[in-house]
Formats: sequence, C-alpha cells, structure tokens
Amino acid sequence: MNEVVFNRYPKEQNEYSALVKEINKQKFKTEPLAMVVTYGCQQNVSDSERIKGMLLQMGFDFTEDAEAADLIIFNTCAVREHAEDRVFGNVGALKHYKRRNPNKIIGICGCMAQQEIVKERIRKSYPYVDLLFGTHVQYRLPEFLYRLYTGNERIFETSMEQSVVVEDVPIKRDGTFKGWLPIMYGCNNFCTYCIVPYVRGRERSRDYTEILKEARQMVKDGFKDITLLGQNVNSYRSPVLSDSGEEIDFPRLLRMINDIPGDFRIRFMTSHPKDCSEQLLLAMRDCEKVAKHLHLPFQCGSTRVLEKMNRRYTREGYLKLIKTAKELMPNLSITSDIIVGFPGETYEDFLQTLSLVKEVKFSALFTFIFSSRPGTPAAQMEDPISREEKGKWFRELLKVQEDISKENETKLVGKTFRLLCDDYGRKEGYMAGHTDTNICLEFEGDSSLLGTFVVVETEYVDNCLTAKLI
Ligand code: SAH
Ligand code: SF4
Ligand code: F3S
Repeated sequence: MNEVVFNRYPKEQNEYSALVKEINKQKFKTEPLAMVVTYGCQQNVSDSERIKGMLLQMGFDFTEDAEAADLIIFNTCAVREHAEDRVFGNVGALKHYKRRNPNKIIGICGCMAQQEIVKERIRKSYPYVDLLFGTHVQYRLPEFLYRLYTGNERIFETSMEQSVVVEDVPIKRDGTFKGWLPIMYGCNNFCTYCIVPYVRGRERSRDYTEILKEARQMVKDGFKDITLLGQNVNSYRSPVLSDSGEEIDFPRLLRMINDIPGDFRIRFMTSHPKDCSEQLLLAMRDCEKVAKHLHLPFQCGSTRVLEKMNRRYTREGYLKLIKTAKELMPNLSITSDIIVGFPGETYEDFLQTLSLVKEVKFSALFTFIFSSRPGTPAAQMEDPISREEKGKWFRELLKVQEDISKENETKLVGKTFRLLCDDYGRKEGYMAGHTDTNICLEFEGDSSLLGTFVVVETEYVDNCLTAKLI
C-alpha cells in the first residue's frame, strides 16, 4: 500500500469558511440557499453529506428548487455513459436559470469532474459553469467559494492528492437513523471496464480509531443502521496498529464496531470476491449486529470473461465462496452486480451467467449493460455484439431473476422478522421497513415508528406479501 498522509481538516479551510460566511451575511438578507444534487453510488451520497456540512458552516441553508438556489452543485458519477449523459443534460438545463440570475453559482464535482476530457468539455461548452472540482479536493470547497466571491475567474481544480486522507471534514447527514460511514477511499483493482480507479485514485484506508470514533458518535446520535463504505471493503487495512500491536483488517474492524454498545445494525459494501475471506464470513456470523446480507458482485459467470475483466477469481471460486457463506449463515441474503455484454462475451458466456444466477438464487440483482468508458482497457477491446442483441440477453436475465424473486418471496410467508421502520408505506396508514437481510415489508402503523425496530409476522393478502405488527 502507498504511504498514506493523514491530515486533519486544514485550518486555512476553516478560515476561508469564516470569510465566506461573513461575505454571505453582507450579500444576502437571509441565509443564501444551496442545492446539492447527487448522482451515483453511496460514496457520492456520503461525499455530498460532507459538501453540505461545509456549506452549512459557511452559512448556507438548503433548497431543492433550482430557481431559488443561489448555489447549485452537481456531485456526479462517471461509471456508465448514461449517467454522464444525464448530468450533461441537466447541466444544460441550468443555462436558463443562470440567464435569469447571473449571480447564481453553478458547480460540478465528483467522479465525472475528475476526468480531463469532461473538464475540457465543461470549460469550452458550458461557460455558465463557474466551478469544477475533482474528488480529491472536495474538502477545499470553502477556498473555492472564497475565490469565486472575491475574484472573477472560473475555477477548475482537479489535482489528485493520491495518498491523502482528510479527517474531520464538517458533515451534515441526510438521515437521522440510517447513515454512511466511509472506511476507505479509492480502488486499486483496475477491473478493465471500470473508471472508478481513475477518478477516485489509489486505495487508502482510514485509521481505525477515526472510524470507531465516528461510529460511536453515530450510535450516540441515534443511528440504527450504519453502512461501512468502500469500493472493496475486504482489502481494508488500518494504517495504524491496535494498542497491542495487531493489524486491523476488515473482519477485525467489524468485530470492533460490533462491540460498541447499543441496538443498531452494521452493513457494508462492496465486497470483492477475490478478497472475501473465511475470516470475514466468520466475523459476519459471530457479530449479532452485522446484517446477514452480503453484496458480492460476480459480474459474469464465465471464467474466460472474468479473466478479461481482470477480476482475479473464477466461476468455481465464486461458487465455492457462496457455498461456504451459506453453510456458515443459512439465512444469508446474497445480492450481486452483473455486467451483460462485456466486449467479446458470447451467448455461451452469457448462458454461464444465467446458470450461475439460477444456482445461487440471489435475493436481488443490480444488472447493467456494458458501457464503454474512455481510458479503460475494455474500451479498446473488440465488441462485435450489437446493443440490440445485448438488450435481448439483458431482458432474458431479468426474466430469470424475476422468477427467482417470486420463488424467494413465497419462502417468506408465515415468518417473524425484525424490521427497522424506515419509510412510509405506499398506502395511507401503512409504514415500511427493512429486515437485516434487506427485505422490504409494509405493515399497518404510524409515523411514530419511524427509526425504531419493530417485529412483524408475514402473510399473503390479495396475492401480495404483507406484514403485521406483533
Ligand atoms: N467497487 C464495486 C462497485 C463499483 S461500480 C465493486 O467492485 O463491486 C458498481 C457496479 O457498476 C459494478 O459492480 C459493475 O457491475 C457496474 N459497472 C462498472 N463499470 C461499468 C461499465 N463500464 N459498464 C457497465 N457496468 C459497469
Ligand atoms: Fe471498479 Fe473493480 Fe474497483 Fe469495483 S473493484 S470499483 S468494479 S475497479
Ligand atoms: Fe459513480 Fe464515482 Fe460511485 S463513478 S459509482 S459515483 S465512485
């Protein structure tokens, strides 16, 4: 692993923050309004919470109305072309707002912004975008806003601080009982289709004492569901040893968080099969607070394609892992990600994906058609299968999973579950909640239950799985 440099939140950023707050007071009669729009994965959602934390410190309030907003920030995702197209479309639509209110500040950050080609396109074709900053320098937002307020230059800042972790960035969490806790940043795996290592930089783990401190605070603040985040949590390794000189890897970290007193759940994502050890499965089994849910993307059922994807496991290796996991935790819920139509994938390869899906019977799948990402090795590979053909395969896969999901559902009838009530139901007078295995159930109840654990029994009503409080 690279030598990682740990910084506290820099003093000068706090000073910029105070200056921006002062200017805001002079410029606006009431608090200026910021709108932060988040695309992409939980890592981005978590980053946006820190962006909002910094904005709050600078005296901003928040809105979801683009017209009313004094500052709009798009936190973007680059994982598939479709995600990028949506952002370009939505940024395009901001032009009219800027024409009506030239003082409105428009900013773009996140994974798309980290790419040179996007940076240049925004610079040239979107002159009303005032600010663009990459994933590595997010914590410098106060400085960027100060420079915008006091100068008349657009700001484009995408330098990569590959081995820096900045702690104590102010945070404003979106939820009050479900929250994200990043344990590491970046990725070293370079799966050949994936843009993430290029836009997020090298893998770097946080000091375990910082993670424990944050987890304890979240529990104290009433969080009941904490998801540990990283592109490959299985390769977590604290840069700091324990007091007794032990290495803290991911299974050890899970056990330490599990030891924090309180009634809460621990989740984590994402696990990479190549690093998913028996130690991790044992820790999951032993820790009563760790949800019995494993998100373990396999991407493709053909070893030949897995090799071209640089995934570094085989179909057989994956299936063996699943077998061990199910033996250790019979009620384990397993979900996965799949890419259909990787360059050079044949229908025979795809059939191996289908057979793996039928064999494992996943609780849920996140399925994607391959999207070519400029700069990745897969973008250079021959890709003879048409989009239409890939679409057909994709629909075939969805159909297979639909049948499995129905079959899974029938197994849930007449059982008792502990749910974290986390939303309103679709019908008046109903609430919704998730089991630790991530099954969503609706039951009759009121909003006073939000954020609490409830126990329900399941039944079939009008052909639909429902639950009632017991
Ligand atoms: N680090 C995680 C997930 C990263 S991105 C992991 O390794 O599992 C989330 C999912 O997006 C991936 O699992 C993959 O299925 C999908 N994905 C990534 N790049 C893609 C691409 N170029 N085209 C289509 N899907 C892609
Ligand atoms: Fe992308 Fe692979 Fe890293 Fe996941 S492990 S972020 S798919 S390169
Ligand atoms: Fe997208 Fe960046 Fe996450 S590319 S999937 S937001 S790490």
